[in-house]
Amino acid sequence: MAQPFYVTTPIYYVNDSPHIGHAYTTIAADIMARFHRLAGREAFFLTGTDEHGSKVAEAAEAAGMSEIEFCDKTVKTFQEVWERLDIGHDDFIRTTSERHEKAVRKILDAMRGAKTDDGQEVIYSGYYEGLYCTGCEKYLTERDLVDGKCPDHNREPEVLKEKNYFFRLSAFTGKIRDKIESGELRILPEERRREVLGLLKQDLPDFSLSRERVKWGIPLTFDSSQSAYVWVDALTNYISAIGYADNPLTFDKWWNEAEVVHLMAKDILKFHCLYWPAMLMAAGVKLPETIFLHGFFTVDGAKMAKSLGNKIDPNDMVDDFGADATRYLLLTQYPFGHDGDVQASRFVGQYNTDLANDLGNLVSRVAKMVMTNCEGQLPSAHDDLPGLEELKLQAENLADNAYEYIQNFRIGAAIEEAIALVRATNKFFNDTAPWKMAKAGKTQELGGVLNACCEALRMVSVTLFPVMPGKMRELRHVLSLSDDTLDLQNARTFSFLKPGTPIRVEKPIFPRLDVKKKAAGEAKKDTTKTDKAASEPGLLDISEFAKVQLRVALVLKAEKVEGADKLLKLQVDIGNEKRQIVAGIAQHYTAPEILGKRVIVVANLKPAKIRGVESHGMLLAAKRGDQLCVVTTDLEMPPGAPVS
Ligand code: MSP
Repeated sequence: MAQPFYVTTPIYYVNDSPHIGHAYTTIAADIMARFHRLAGREAFFLTGTDEHGSKVAEAAEAAGMSEIEFCDKTVKTFQEVWERLDIGHDDFIRTTSERHEKAVRKILDAMRGAKTDDGQEVIYSGYYEGLYCTGCEKYLTERDLVDGKCPDHNREPEVLKEKNYFFRLSAFTGKIRDKIESGELRILPEERRREVLGLLKQDLPDFSLSRERVKWGIPLTFDSSQSAYVWVDALTNYISAIGYADNPLTFDKWWNEAEVVHLMAKDILKFHCLYWPAMLMAAGVKLPETIFLHGFFTVDGAKMAKSLGNKIDPNDMVDDFGADATRYLLLTQYPFGHDGDVQASRFVGQYNTDLANDLGNLVSRVAKMVMTNCEGQLPSAHDDLPGLEELKLQAENLADNAYEYIQNFRIGAAIEEAIALVRATNKFFNDTAPWKMAKAGKTQELGGVLNACCEALRMVSVTLFPVMPGKMRELRHVLSLSDDTLDLQNARTFSFLKPGTPIRVEKPIFPRLDVKKKAAGEAKKDTTKTDKAASEPGLLDISEFAKVQLRVALVLKAEKVEGADKLLKLQVDIGNEKRQIVAGIAQHYTAPEILGKRVIVVANLKPAKIRGVESHGMLLAAKRGDQLCVVTTDLEMPPGAPVS
């Protein structure tokens, strides 16, 4: 019996909305799980949400909800988008669930009772000293301060000391290094393994395992005045979901006996490759087999950020391309494991080339020829055809080659292998020109070509199934195949389909997309959605620009928005009326600095609520990287003067 396979994604923060970065890892994990199942292994795929911590509490407060109400609401945005993307996870873990909290309590107790090799306690109490801002109700770092002050509250933070529990990481670094070097713990790709080994050479400080002031968290079992540090809480999800605290049988199967693979991007390397193995060792739990840290991608050359408006919502991609093509497009932009750049402007072209033309057209052409020339029934194979042997060889190797790539986390290469067979089949079809055979009455040859193309398409339908399950089912429907024969074993042999099998196509499986129409669709979304990528703004007609009313506005009053460190609330005079505008400039301007300035505002925007505060208008600012400069005008210009 093949070893079961357990794959996880990070659990995503609920105070963010799902974007294609989250989708990327989740689709990758889904592909891995589905591929291993095709190879005959049992697989379990876990994803979920990270719901504790001060940021979630702040976001809930800003939304005027209790923490759990806020989590219940935002968790749905993740669950819904995974459903739309046809993600086939076996479980979804929330850190606010009872089973998770139970597991956190269990691991805390286990670690609390543990001793290091030289007899010291793994968990010890100590004091954490830091710069605490009473306005923000949190510790700040030196880097957060501007001129020694909290930029949000314009006051110096207090040096505060609080009791904390610490985890003695230093006692585990040697052991972690040994496990990595012996291969017992695989860190992949190689570059990341080197990074971790590099970190292990440094003098790593023990980490604080609890927080006194964070109320939205899981209380420590041995000191309820403290809550578990978010990472200790979050990392435990990988075992809480499979029964660490409440189901020894499933825990044994999916943790102790399975091959455990944690998938994520390199941003969370330290927590997964140092803290997590150390926690597990302290608690006497085995380590995962593999931690794979893929690269981080930018969108149109910039890091995805709300403030840059280049966050792509996977829902929008599903609207435009459907679930399957979205999965395909996201995983084929650059090699899995590397860093990369994603450009939405390329999606339509690639969809049309790879999916509509190469794969979709091939399916339609082959099936239609069977329908018109062979009464819709698969004709018999015929050996003596130019190029057939090569095609057969390539097709029969596809499943194993692709699976080998998958086992090495080379998802893009596995997909490319299948697309290469699609292209080879197109070439075979074009070179043998079955339409000429039909005209010349060469029925056997014609049947042979169509039979071979159907077999090749069947291999493709298996290999690309983990990537595009819905569309590959459609393709298999064309070939009268059910899920019963959906496995890699069948994809190793070219002679599988029975002559006479009904072959029918009703509509193209990947309808061609109109490039111009899509471009218009993108532009429409960009203007209606504030946080949507303004990736490729089209050229504006002067009449369109004239719709935007810009005016000089005098800032009469400025103050911080409570609980929002980036926002200032301004009262401005725009000539004929006074307005309130909420501006995301608080990290660049203090309230006194902006007061009295004559800024430029967009005056005819619909009022909106930002963090629950009414905002009517928007002010202009120049922005580059971390710098921001509000656009102002000469003092003589009166409030309300139009700007054109
Ligand atoms: N909650 C923690 C994880 C706890 S796991 C025990 C967290 N959450 S997160 O919402 O910030 O998700 C981070 C993960 O999202 C990355 O590790 C990666 O899987 C995915 N990505 C987010 N943005 C991404 C890119 N731009 N590129 C690639 N992956 C991206 O960290």
